[in-house]
Amino acid sequence: MSGERPTWQAYNEAQLTRPVRPLAKRLLEHAGPGNGRAALDLGCGSGVETRALVAAGWRVTAVDSDPSMPDRLQDLVAGGDVTAVVGDLRDVAPGRVALVHSSLSLPFVPSTDFAFVWERVRRSLLAGGWLGVDLFGPRDDWHGTPGLSFHPRSGVDQLMAGLEVVDLVEEERDAPSFGGVVKHWHTFHVIARRPGEAEGAP
Ligand SMILES: C[S@@+](CC[C@H](N)C(=O)[O-])C[C@H]1O[C@@H](n2cnc3c(N)ncnc32)[C@H](O)[C@@H]1O
Repeated sequence: MSGERPTWQAYNEAQLTRPVRPLAKRLLEHAGPGNGRAALDLGCGSGVETRALVAAGWRVTAVDSDPSMPDRLQDLVAGGDVTAVVGDLRDVAPGRVALVHSSLSLPFVPSTDFAFVWERVRRSLLAGGWLGVDLFGPRDDWHGTPGLSFHPRSGVDQLMAGLEVVDLVEEERDAPSFGGVVKHWHTFHVIARRPGEAEGAP
């Protein structure tokens, strides 16, 4: 990454008026209404996708290391069934849930820590549970930046081993990052389901 890096708070505040990301929309189409089931939004950022999950009836625990997240979430999801947790994805031990959403956040877990964070994410999924995640690929211009994680297509397949992948979009495009510099993005948007009879009904 080049140039001065904006803070996550500035990034997240700038996201408040955008539409819900396609990954979250597609995840909700697959998973259906929450009916009070538990969900995690890991690296929830602005809370725009958290709000969509809550609106669909999910009981959401939203995790982010940005300390400004809870106040934003309170405004966005006033009175909704949501618990805000300020913390590092490497430290937070999530409970078991029927849905995990994580848009554009897991790539910001350093590669040295990615494996155990991923193992936790997988373990948190109840049987029949839904997973929607973004991962960065090796042709991304940020590839090699310390503190980030990248996975080739074969690595994505390994991460998803034992899960039923129902939707995998590999995207490459040139577009500005939040810092304003045009870069090449290489991203995988993956929706998968843990096999088995659905657990976690309210
Ligand atoms: C690119 S933003 C994505 C936010 C939101 N999910 C979205 O789609 O707009 C990355 C988010 O991950 C959070 N984040 C980055 N590294 C983190 C970590 N190790 N633990 C917890 N949150 C982290 C940042 O604070 C930021 O809100």
